[in-house]
Amino acid sequence: MQFSKLKDLGVEVVHFNVTDSTNLRAKEVALKGYTSPVLFVTDSQTAGKGRMGRSFYSPDGTGLYMSYLYKVTGNFADNVTVTSAAAVAVVRAIEELTDLEPKIKWVNDIYVDSKKVCGILTEAVTDKNGITSVIVGIGLNINTTDFPHELTCIAGSLGKTMSREILAQTIVKHLQILISQLSDRTFIEDYIKHSAVLGKEVVYIIHGVEHTATAVGIDNNGGLIVEHKDGGKTTLFTGEISVKLI
Ligand code: BTN
Repeated sequence: MQFSKLKDLGVEVVHFNVTDSTNLRAKEVALKGYTSPVLFVTDSQTAGKGRMGRSFYSPDGTGLYMSYLYKVTGNFADNVTVTSAAAVAVVRAIEELTDLEPKIKWVNDIYVDSKKVCGILTEAVTDKNGITSVIVGIGLNINTTDFPHELTCIAGSLGKTMSREILAQTIVKHLQILISQLSDRTFIEDYIKHSAVLGKEVVYIIHGVEHTATAVGIDNNGGLIVEHKDGGKTTLFTGEISVKLI
């Protein structure tokens, strides 16, 4: 793979034909130390990690599986919002390169035509010197068709023929812009514009108890504001719960 544009963006690229998980490769490097941001990208993963302990199906050559590793500068609280900003980076890249209309299902799953085409797993790592890095792991199905049985109802692909290098470069370009603007939360407007959840009834589970509510807003930190039948509102924070559209 050629990643010349990424080098122009100051990103070092590490490419594998196969690895267990690019987030794990990134974590190793984060703990050892590195200078510029690094993009780990692979043709396939044998143990792709998803959110909430799930796995991410990563067959050979039909998807983009990558992890962007960077050091936190400034306020850590701003960097927590990168998990939502990364979803905006992916939808901007898809819109730049295709005629598709991607939507974001809170927190950061990307859907096209009601099928999940992309999942994002963000992790933070602090090394022995107290330097914190963020790993933004992105798995995007480009033209995967042979999903395992349990995924066939949920998972989909972009269904386009495109260069993985250009897709990776375009996502990283948008991600870098958004990371540089995290403190002013400019991405929230675009996040709201692409939300698949707002105005819909959702079910969320906290401590094993299911709640039904209507999604009414996204706050400045990417939290989902839901309204219950009695008019009471709750803000759901990223990473704590999963939301089902009903
Ligand atoms: C999810 O849908 O729950 C998140 C999936 C994240 C998958 C990507 S693929 C590249 C990176 N490496 C991993 O092991 N996971 C992320």
